[in-house]
Amino acid sequence: MKIAVYGASGFTGRLVVAELAHRGIGAVLVGRDAERLQRVADAEVRQAPLEHAALVRAFRGCAAVINCAGPFSLLGEPVLRAADAASCHYVDIAGEQTYLARLFEGPGPDVSAVPGVNDDGLPSDLLAHLVAGRVGSVRELVIGLDLVRGGGAPSRGTLRSALANLDTFTAGGLGYADGRWDPDLPARRTTMAFLGAAVPVVKFPLPAVVTVPHHVAAGRVEGVARPELVAGFAGVTPELVEQLPEGPAESHRRAGRWIIAVEAVGDEGRARGVVHGADTYGTTAVTAVEAARRLVADGAAPGLLAPAQAFDAADFLAFLETRGVTVDGVRPPRSRSSSAGPRDRT
Ligand SMILES: NC(=O)c1ccc[n+]([C@@H]2O[C@H](COP(=O)([O-])OP(=O)(O)OC[C@H]3O[C@@H](n4cnc5c(N)ncnc54)[C@H](OP(=O)(O)O)[C@@H]3O)[C@@H](O)[C@H]2O)c1
Repeated sequence: MKIAVYGASGFTGRLVVAELAHRGIGAVLVGRDAERLQRVADAEVRQAPLEHAALVRAFRGCAAVINCAGPFSLLGEPVLRAADAASCHYVDIAGEQTYLARLFEGPGPDVSAVPGVNDDGLPSDLLAHLVAGRVGSVRELVIGLDLVRGGGAPSRGTLRSALANLDTFTAGGLGYADGRWDPDLPARRTTMAFLGAAVPVVKFPLPAVVTVPHHVAAGRVEGVARPELVAGFAGVTPELVEQLPEGPAESHRRAGRWIIAVEAVGDEGRARGVVHGADTYGTTAVTAVEAARRLVADGAAPGLLAPAQAFDAADFLAFLETRGVTVDGVRPPRSRSSSAGPRDRT
Protein backbone atom coordinates (compact mmCIF):
# COMPACT_ATOMS: atom_id res chain seq x y z
CA MET A 1 0.00 0.00 0.00
CA LYS A 2 1.40 3.41 -0.99
CA ILE A 3 -0.22 6.54 0.42
CA ALA A 4 0.45 10.03 -0.94
CA VAL A 5 0.73 12.90 1.52
CA TYR A 6 -0.05 16.29 -0.02
CA GLY A 7 1.55 19.08 2.01
CA ALA A 8 4.05 16.58 3.41
CA SER A 9 6.50 19.43 4.12
CA GLY A 10 4.16 21.11 6.61
CA PHE A 11 4.14 20.74 10.39
CA THR A 12 1.33 18.15 10.48
CA GLY A 13 2.29 16.65 7.11
CA ARG A 14 5.67 15.68 8.56
CA LEU A 15 3.96 13.98 11.53
CA VAL A 16 1.75 12.08 9.07
CA VAL A 17 4.83 10.94 7.13
CA ALA A 18 6.45 9.78 10.40
CA GLU A 19 3.28 7.89 11.36
CA LEU A 20 3.17 6.14 7.97
CA ALA A 21 6.77 5.00 8.56
CA HIS A 22 5.81 3.86 12.08
CA ARG A 23 2.98 1.78 10.59
CA GLY A 24 5.22 0.34 7.87
CA ILE A 25 3.16 1.95 5.10
CA GLY A 26 4.93 3.38 2.04
CA ALA A 27 4.66 7.16 1.68
CA VAL A 28 4.87 9.32 -1.43
CA LEU A 29 5.65 12.91 -0.45
CA VAL A 30 3.82 15.41 -2.64
CA GLY A 31 3.89 19.20 -2.57
CA ARG A 32 4.86 22.34 -4.42
CA ASP A 33 8.49 22.52 -3.21
CA ALA A 34 10.66 19.48 -3.99
CA GLU A 35 13.58 20.68 -1.87
CA ARG A 36 11.47 21.05 1.23
CA LEU A 37 9.92 17.62 0.62
CA GLN A 38 13.34 15.98 0.26
CA ARG A 39 14.28 17.20 3.73
CA VAL A 40 11.25 15.46 5.31
CA ALA A 41 12.16 11.79 4.95
CA ASP A 42 13.97 9.28 2.80
CA ALA A 43 10.91 8.57 0.65
CA GLU A 44 9.69 9.07 -2.90
CA VAL A 45 9.08 12.76 -3.69
CA ARG A 46 6.73 14.00 -6.41
CA GLN A 47 6.54 17.74 -6.98
CA ALA A 48 3.10 19.10 -7.82
CA PRO A 49 1.74 22.63 -7.44
CA LEU A 50 -1.96 23.05 -6.80
CA GLU A 51 -2.86 22.37 -10.43
CA HIS A 52 -5.17 19.53 -11.53
CA ALA A 53 -3.05 17.71 -14.13
CA ALA A 54 0.12 17.88 -12.01
CA LEU A 55 -1.73 16.62 -8.92
CA VAL A 56 -3.33 13.73 -10.83
CA ARG A 57 0.10 12.70 -12.19
CA ALA A 58 1.60 12.86 -8.70
CA PHE A 59 -1.16 10.77 -7.09
CA ARG A 60 -1.30 8.02 -9.76
CA GLY A 61 -0.46 4.56 -8.41
CA CYS A 62 -1.15 5.53 -4.80
CA ALA A 63 -4.01 3.83 -2.98
CA ALA A 64 -5.00 6.95 -1.03
CA VAL A 65 -4.16 10.61 -0.53
CA ILE A 66 -3.89 12.29 2.86
CA ASN A 67 -4.21 16.02 2.28
CA CYS A 68 -2.41 18.16 4.88
CA ALA A 69 -2.22 21.45 2.94
CA GLY A 70 -4.42 24.13 4.48
CA PRO A 71 -6.19 26.52 4.69
CA PHE A 72 -8.58 23.98 3.19
CA SER A 73 -11.21 26.58 2.34
CA LEU A 74 -8.61 27.98 -0.10
CA LEU A 75 -6.63 24.88 -1.12
CA GLY A 76 -8.60 21.73 -0.27
CA GLU A 77 -11.05 21.02 -3.06
CA PRO A 78 -8.59 20.81 -6.02
CA VAL A 79 -6.67 18.10 -4.13
CA LEU A 80 -9.86 16.09 -3.53
CA ARG A 81 -10.84 16.36 -7.22
CA ALA A 82 -7.36 15.27 -8.35
CA ALA A 83 -7.33 12.32 -5.93
CA ASP A 84 -10.69 11.25 -7.37
CA ALA A 85 -9.40 11.58 -10.95
CA ALA A 86 -6.36 9.44 -10.01
CA SER A 87 -8.67 6.82 -8.35
CA CYS A 88 -7.16 7.39 -4.89
CA HIS A 89 -9.27 7.32 -1.74
CA TYR A 90 -9.08 10.64 0.08
CA VAL A 91 -8.68 11.84 3.65
CA ASP A 92 -7.91 15.35 4.81
CA ILE A 93 -7.19 16.93 8.19
CA ALA A 94 -9.33 20.06 7.78
CA GLY A 95 -10.80 21.70 10.84
CA GLU A 96 -12.71 24.31 8.80
CA GLN A 97 -16.45 23.90 9.15
CA THR A 98 -17.44 25.99 6.12
CA TYR A 99 -15.07 24.00 3.85
CA LEU A 100 -16.69 20.76 5.02
CA ALA A 101 -20.18 22.15 4.49
CA ARG A 102 -19.26 23.21 0.94
CA LEU A 103 -17.81 19.77 0.10
CA PHE A 104 -20.91 17.96 1.33
CA GLU A 105 -23.09 20.23 -0.83
CA GLY A 106 -21.01 19.60 -3.97
CA PRO A 107 -20.74 16.60 -6.29
CA GLY A 108 -19.58 13.39 -4.59
CA PRO A 109 -16.40 11.70 -5.84
CA ASP A 110 -16.27 8.14 -7.23
CA VAL A 111 -13.68 7.19 -4.60
CA SER A 112 -14.32 7.14 -0.83
CA ALA A 113 -13.49 10.55 0.63
CA VAL A 114 -13.51 11.45 4.33
CA PRO A 115 -12.62 15.09 5.03
CA GLY A 116 -12.13 16.55 8.52
CA VAL A 117 -10.12 13.65 9.94
CA ASN A 118 -8.10 15.07 12.82
CA ASP A 119 -7.92 14.94 16.61
CA ASP A 120 -11.30 16.63 16.90
CA GLY A 121 -13.38 15.97 13.75
CA LEU A 122 -13.15 12.17 13.67
CA PRO A 123 -13.41 11.28 17.39
CA SER A 124 -16.33 13.69 17.91
CA ASP A 125 -18.22 12.34 14.89
CA LEU A 126 -17.74 8.71 15.97
CA LEU A 127 -18.56 9.44 19.61
CA ALA A 128 -21.72 11.34 18.60
CA HIS A 129 -22.82 8.33 16.53
CA LEU A 130 -22.47 6.00 19.53
CA VAL A 131 -24.00 8.36 22.09
CA ALA A 132 -26.95 9.11 19.78
CA GLY A 133 -27.53 5.37 19.38
CA ARG A 134 -28.38 5.11 23.11
CA VAL A 135 -31.26 7.60 23.33
CA GLY A 136 -33.79 6.48 20.73
CA SER A 137 -35.04 9.23 18.48
CA VAL A 138 -32.56 12.10 19.01
CA ARG A 139 -34.08 15.46 19.88
CA GLU A 140 -30.85 17.32 20.66
CA LEU A 141 -27.16 16.60 20.43
CA VAL A 142 -24.45 18.88 21.86
CA ILE A 143 -20.78 18.42 20.97
CA GLY A 144 -18.23 20.25 23.12
CA LEU A 145 -14.47 20.73 22.63
CA ASP A 146 -12.02 21.72 25.34
CA LEU A 147 -8.32 22.27 24.64
CA VAL A 148 -5.73 22.48 27.39
CA ARG A 149 -2.57 23.90 25.88
CA GLY A 150 0.63 22.34 27.15
CA GLY A 151 2.62 25.50 26.41
CA GLY A 152 3.58 27.01 23.09
CA ALA A 153 1.13 28.23 20.47
CA PRO A 154 -0.91 26.36 17.85
CA SER A 155 0.90 25.72 14.57
CA ARG A 156 1.20 28.56 12.05
CA GLY A 157 -0.92 26.43 9.68
CA THR A 158 -3.72 26.21 12.25
CA LEU A 159 -3.66 29.95 12.75
CA ARG A 160 -3.53 30.69 9.01
CA SER A 161 -6.62 28.50 8.62
CA ALA A 162 -8.31 30.33 11.50
CA LEU A 163 -7.48 33.65 9.81
CA ALA A 164 -9.01 32.42 6.55
CA ASN A 165 -12.20 31.61 8.52
CA LEU A 166 -12.11 34.33 11.15
CA ASP A 167 -15.76 35.38 10.76
CA THR A 168 -16.88 31.80 11.26
CA PHE A 169 -14.75 31.37 14.37
CA THR A 170 -15.91 34.61 15.97
CA ALA A 171 -19.61 34.14 15.04
CA GLY A 172 -19.65 30.46 16.10
CA GLY A 173 -20.36 28.84 12.75
CA LEU A 174 -23.22 26.58 11.78
CA GLY A 175 -25.87 24.99 13.94
CA TYR A 176 -28.24 22.31 12.66
CA ALA A 177 -32.00 22.28 13.28
CA ASP A 178 -35.10 21.07 11.45
CA GLY A 179 -33.15 19.43 8.64
CA ARG A 180 -30.84 22.30 7.71
CA TRP A 181 -27.62 24.05 8.71
CA ASP A 182 -27.99 27.66 9.80
CA PRO A 183 -25.20 30.16 10.65
CA ASP A 184 -27.66 32.27 12.65
CA LEU A 185 -28.86 29.49 14.94
CA PRO A 186 -27.70 30.39 18.46
CA ALA A 187 -26.35 27.67 20.76
CA ARG A 188 -28.76 26.88 23.58
CA ARG A 189 -26.09 25.35 25.76
CA THR A 190 -24.22 27.78 28.05
CA THR A 191 -22.32 25.33 30.29
CA MET A 192 -20.83 21.89 29.74
CA ALA A 193 -18.84 19.42 31.85
CA PHE A 194 -15.73 18.00 30.21
CA LEU A 195 -13.60 16.06 32.71
CA GLY A 196 -14.64 18.03 35.79
CA ALA A 197 -17.34 20.48 36.86
CA ALA A 198 -19.39 22.28 34.21
CA VAL A 199 -17.70 25.34 32.69
CA PRO A 200 -19.12 28.17 30.54
CA VAL A 201 -19.28 27.42 26.80
CA VAL A 202 -20.25 29.36 23.67
CA LYS A 203 -21.10 28.34 20.10
CA PHE A 204 -18.05 27.10 18.19
CA PRO A 205 -17.69 25.92 14.54
CA LEU A 206 -16.90 22.25 15.15
CA PRO A 207 -16.57 20.00 12.07
CA ALA A 208 -18.91 17.41 13.62
CA VAL A 209 -21.88 19.82 13.41
CA VAL A 210 -21.58 19.36 9.63
CA THR A 211 -20.79 15.63 9.55
CA VAL A 212 -23.03 14.15 12.30
CA PRO A 213 -26.43 14.93 10.67
CA HIS A 214 -25.30 12.79 7.71
CA HIS A 215 -25.65 9.68 9.90
CA VAL A 216 -27.71 10.72 12.94
CA ALA A 217 -31.33 11.82 12.45
CA ALA A 218 -31.20 14.52 15.12
CA GLY A 219 -33.67 17.35 15.59
CA ARG A 220 -30.87 19.67 16.58
CA VAL A 221 -27.04 19.56 16.65
CA GLU A 222 -24.80 22.27 18.08
CA GLY A 223 -21.07 22.70 18.75
CA VAL A 224 -19.64 24.55 21.74
CA ALA A 225 -16.28 25.38 23.30
CA ARG A 226 -14.93 27.51 26.12
CA PRO A 227 -15.10 31.26 25.36
CA GLU A 228 -11.30 31.44 25.85
CA LEU A 229 -10.81 29.33 22.71
CA VAL A 230 -12.90 31.73 20.63
CA ALA A 231 -11.07 34.72 22.15
CA GLY A 232 -7.71 33.09 21.30
CA PHE A 233 -8.65 32.80 17.61
CA ALA A 234 -10.24 36.26 17.52
CA GLY A 235 -6.91 37.83 18.56
CA VAL A 236 -4.90 36.27 15.71
CA THR A 237 -3.35 38.64 13.17
CA PRO A 238 -1.21 37.82 10.09
CA GLU A 239 1.76 39.58 11.73
CA LEU A 240 1.44 37.46 14.88
CA VAL A 241 1.28 34.22 12.85
CA GLU A 242 4.49 34.97 11.00
CA GLN A 243 6.36 35.68 14.27
CA LEU A 244 5.48 32.29 15.78
CA PRO A 245 7.47 29.08 15.43
CA GLU A 246 6.12 26.64 12.81
CA GLY A 247 4.43 24.59 15.52
CA PRO A 248 4.59 23.69 19.20
CA ALA A 249 7.64 21.82 20.51
CA GLU A 250 7.16 18.10 21.08
CA SER A 251 7.25 18.56 24.89
CA HIS A 252 4.45 21.16 24.65
CA ARG A 253 2.42 18.94 22.32
CA ARG A 254 2.63 16.02 24.70
CA ALA A 255 1.73 18.17 27.72
CA GLY A 256 -1.45 19.47 26.03
CA ARG A 257 -4.85 17.76 26.16
CA TRP A 258 -7.96 17.72 23.99
CA ILE A 259 -11.32 16.69 25.42
CA ILE A 260 -14.54 16.10 23.49
CA ALA A 261 -17.84 15.63 25.30
CA VAL A 262 -21.06 14.64 23.54
CA GLU A 263 -24.48 14.76 25.17
CA ALA A 264 -27.71 13.57 23.55
CA VAL A 265 -31.35 13.82 24.58
CA GLY A 266 -33.90 11.57 22.90
CA ASP A 267 -37.28 10.00 23.45
CA GLU A 268 -35.65 7.16 25.43
CA GLY A 269 -33.59 9.38 27.76
CA ARG A 270 -30.19 11.04 27.93
CA ALA A 271 -26.65 9.82 27.24
CA ARG A 272 -23.17 11.27 27.44
CA GLY A 273 -19.73 10.21 26.27
CA VAL A 274 -16.26 11.72 26.53
CA VAL A 275 -13.14 11.07 24.50
CA HIS A 276 -9.83 12.67 25.39
CA GLY A 277 -6.13 12.46 24.79
CA ALA A 278 -2.85 14.35 24.58
CA ASP A 279 -0.98 15.90 21.61
CA THR A 280 -3.53 17.26 19.14
CA TYR A 281 -1.13 17.22 16.19
CA GLY A 282 0.27 13.74 16.93
CA THR A 283 -3.27 12.38 17.32
CA THR A 284 -4.24 13.99 14.02
CA ALA A 285 -1.42 12.09 12.30
CA VAL A 286 -2.37 8.76 13.94
CA THR A 287 -6.03 9.28 13.04
CA ALA A 288 -5.46 10.36 9.43
CA VAL A 289 -3.14 7.44 8.68
CA GLU A 290 -5.51 4.90 10.22
CA ALA A 291 -8.47 6.38 8.32
CA ALA A 292 -6.63 6.20 4.99
CA ARG A 293 -5.39 2.69 5.78
CA ARG A 294 -8.93 1.51 6.58
CA LEU A 295 -10.38 3.03 3.39
CA VAL A 296 -7.86 1.03 1.38
CA ALA A 297 -7.78 -2.21 3.41
CA ASP A 298 -11.45 -2.48 4.42
CA GLY A 299 -13.18 -0.41 1.74
CA ALA A 300 -16.08 2.00 2.21
CA ALA A 301 -18.92 3.31 0.07
CA PRO A 302 -17.94 5.68 -2.73
CA GLY A 303 -18.66 9.37 -2.25
CA LEU A 304 -18.14 11.99 0.39
CA LEU A 305 -18.49 10.39 3.82
CA ALA A 306 -18.68 11.47 7.42
CA PRO A 307 -16.28 9.42 9.59
CA ALA A 308 -19.10 7.27 11.03
CA GLN A 309 -20.33 6.50 7.50
CA ALA A 310 -16.89 5.27 6.47
CA PHE A 311 -15.80 3.43 9.61
CA ASP A 312 -17.21 1.29 12.40
CA ALA A 313 -17.41 3.92 15.15
CA ALA A 314 -16.74 1.65 18.12
CA ASP A 315 -13.92 -0.20 16.39
CA PHE A 316 -12.10 2.97 15.30
CA LEU A 317 -12.36 4.46 18.81
CA ALA A 318 -11.04 1.17 20.21
CA PHE A 319 -8.06 1.51 17.85
CA LEU A 320 -7.45 5.05 19.14
CA GLU A 321 -7.48 3.66 22.70
CA THR A 322 -4.46 1.57 21.73
CA ARG A 323 -2.69 4.86 20.88
CA GLY A 324 -3.24 6.71 24.15
CA VAL A 325 -6.78 8.03 23.71
CA THR A 326 -9.38 7.46 26.47
CA VAL A 327 -13.05 6.84 25.71
CA ASP A 328 -15.61 7.10 28.55
CA GLY A 329 -19.35 6.52 28.51
CA VAL A 330 -19.46 4.22 25.50
CA ARG A 331 -17.64 0.94 25.66
CA PRO A 332 -15.87 0.19 22.39
CA PRO A 333 -15.01 -3.46 21.78
CA ARG A 334 -11.36 -4.33 21.33
CA SER A 335 -10.32 -3.10 17.91
CA ARG A 336 -10.01 -5.60 15.07
CA SER A 337 -6.76 -3.85 14.21
CA SER A 338 -5.51 -3.37 17.75
CA SER A 339 -3.90 -6.79 17.82
CA ALA A 340 -1.76 -5.76 14.84
CA GLY A 341 1.53 -4.28 16.01
CA PRO A 342 2.40 -0.81 14.77
CA ARG A 343 5.00 -2.17 12.39
CA ASP A 344 2.68 -4.72 10.76
CA ARG A 345 2.64 -4.17 7.03
CA THR A 346 -0.80 -3.82 5.51
N1 LIG B 1 -7.91 19.69 14.82
C1 LIG B 1 -7.74 20.34 13.68
O1 LIG B 1 -8.64 21.02 13.22
C2 LIG B 1 -6.41 20.26 12.95
C3 LIG B 1 -5.32 19.57 13.49
C4 LIG B 1 -4.12 19.57 12.77
C5 LIG B 1 -4.03 20.26 11.56
N2 LIG B 1 -5.13 20.89 11.08
C6 LIG B 1 -5.08 21.67 9.82
O2 LIG B 1 -4.09 21.17 8.95
C7 LIG B 1 -3.61 22.22 8.11
C8 LIG B 1 -2.10 22.19 8.09
O3 LIG B 1 -1.59 22.64 9.32
P1 LIG B 1 -0.01 22.71 9.53
O4 LIG B 1 0.22 23.25 10.86
O5 LIG B 1 0.61 21.41 9.16
O6 LIG B 1 0.37 23.80 8.42
P2 LIG B 1 1.77 24.17 7.75
O7 LIG B 1 2.91 23.73 8.59
O8 LIG B 1 1.68 25.62 7.37
O9 LIG B 1 1.79 23.29 6.41
C9 LIG B 1 0.99 23.62 5.32
C10 LIG B 1 1.36 22.74 4.13
O10 LIG B 1 0.55 23.16 3.03
C11 LIG B 1 1.40 23.49 1.93
N3 LIG B 1 0.86 24.62 1.18
C12 LIG B 1 0.53 25.84 1.69
N4 LIG B 1 0.09 26.64 0.70
C13 LIG B 1 0.16 25.91 -0.44
C14 LIG B 1 -0.17 26.18 -1.80
N5 LIG B 1 -0.66 27.37 -2.18
N6 LIG B 1 0.01 25.20 -2.70
C15 LIG B 1 0.49 23.99 -2.33
N7 LIG B 1 0.83 23.67 -1.06
C16 LIG B 1 0.65 24.63 -0.13
C17 LIG B 1 2.74 23.85 2.55
O11 LIG B 1 3.75 23.66 1.56
P3 LIG B 1 5.18 24.42 1.62
O12 LIG B 1 6.03 23.63 2.58
O13 LIG B 1 5.67 24.32 0.23
O14 LIG B 1 4.92 25.81 2.09
C18 LIG B 1 2.82 22.85 3.69
O15 LIG B 1 3.26 21.61 3.22
C19 LIG B 1 -4.24 23.51 8.65
O16 LIG B 1 -5.35 23.83 7.84
C20 LIG B 1 -4.68 23.13 10.04
O17 LIG B 1 -5.77 23.91 10.49
C21 LIG B 1 -6.32 20.91 11.73
